[in-house]
Amino acid sequence: MKKILVTGGCGYIGSHTIVDLIENGFEPICVDDNSRSTPALLNGIEKITGKKIKNYKVDLTVFDDTHAIFQENPDIEGIIHFAAYKAVGESVEKPLLYFENNLSSLINILRCAKEFDVPYFIFSSSCTVYGNPDEVPVTETTPPKPAASPYGYTKQMGEQIVNEVSKKIPTRFILLRYFNPVGAHPSTDIGELPMGKPENLVPAITQTAIGKLPQLKVYGDDYPTRDGSCVRDYIHVCDIAHAHILALQYLIDNKNKNKCEVFNLGTGNGITVLEVIKAFEKVSGVKLNYVIGPRREGDMVAIYADNTLARQALGWKINFSLDDMMSTAWKWELKLKEDETLHNNQNAKMN
Ligand code: WQD
Repeated sequence: MKKILVTGGCGYIGSHTIVDLIENGFEPICVDDNSRSTPALLNGIEKITGKKIKNYKVDLTVFDDTHAIFQENPDIEGIIHFAAYKAVGESVEKPLLYFENNLSSLINILRCAKEFDVPYFIFSSSCTVYGNPDEVPVTETTPPKPAASPYGYTKQMGEQIVNEVSKKIPTRFILLRYFNPVGAHPSTDIGELPMGKPENLVPAITQTAIGKLPQLKVYGDDYPTRDGSCVRDYIHVCDIAHAHILALQYLIDNKNKNKCEVFNLGTGNGITVLEVIKAFEKVSGVKLNYVIGPRREGDMVAIYADNTLARQALGWKINFSLDDMMSTAWKWELKLKEDETLHNNQNAKMN
């Protein structure tokens, strides 16, 4: 079995990708310092797959500790690099923390990929690299605008670093640009565990619906869109996860045409905030308590993906609908209410 190092494997997309790797015959190794995640999700992975996953609790900004993982596992054949801080608002308040953490960890991992001659590398990127696009849907060649936050800049810079390094080492790279990952694994054994008050829309909806938050605030309904609220491309986390396995196989099968290729991971459907709320109310049967508030600084008006390249080159398919995204997100929130360990872990992270 090919050994794949998954950085940030205790996180939202990382944990779902580990499940998919196991189910597709790979041997994932997890490294996560748990500063923004909890190892509790590894229990959920074991429940789904029957596999106990070891986590290296390592801060990837420390080169020697990162290097030690590769010394212990010189047969690592692939790296999927999720580990990064990703709270847009926090990145505006603490830019240095974001540049140091997100870029130093990437540089250390790339140094090890070079030293240990790791053949395949997948970098977790984001639609934030497009900034506020002039037109939608965006394709992989849509010229990037200035990022809306230091977080977005770490993704733009990360892509440039990977691109330049790919020209000088044998490793072959794929950059995956996620749009808005939402929902949870159908088993409800793993899902999103936001720390503190959720920044993102869907956990804010489910926490309002379950009573953890008093009311959802919709950040503006006076945008030039069909109902005045912002448009995004919401995509189920399991569809995102599976794209990583397809990207890995694409590299293993030598199908890549360049040393570093980029793919958009979105459904191609632009959905407004108010439409997400309606879809949630429909599948959950819960009338959501929300109010229209002022716009949120840094929000793009509308962005959604042209996903032709990922569908054609990787053979990627969208398996989950908006209703599936809402129903799995809601089932996961209900599970969190029941499952003390996950619940306590989430609260512990909040304080
Ligand atoms: C979506 C829409 C808000 C919360 C994020 C990350 C980005 C990328 C994709 C990782 C916006 C509105 C939200 C709320 C609201 N992730 N909203 N009330 O900002 O599109 O992007 O996910 O790479 O890095 O920033 O996602 O869920 O925060 O917002 O009205 O309480 O929901 O204004 O229009 P965003 P989001």
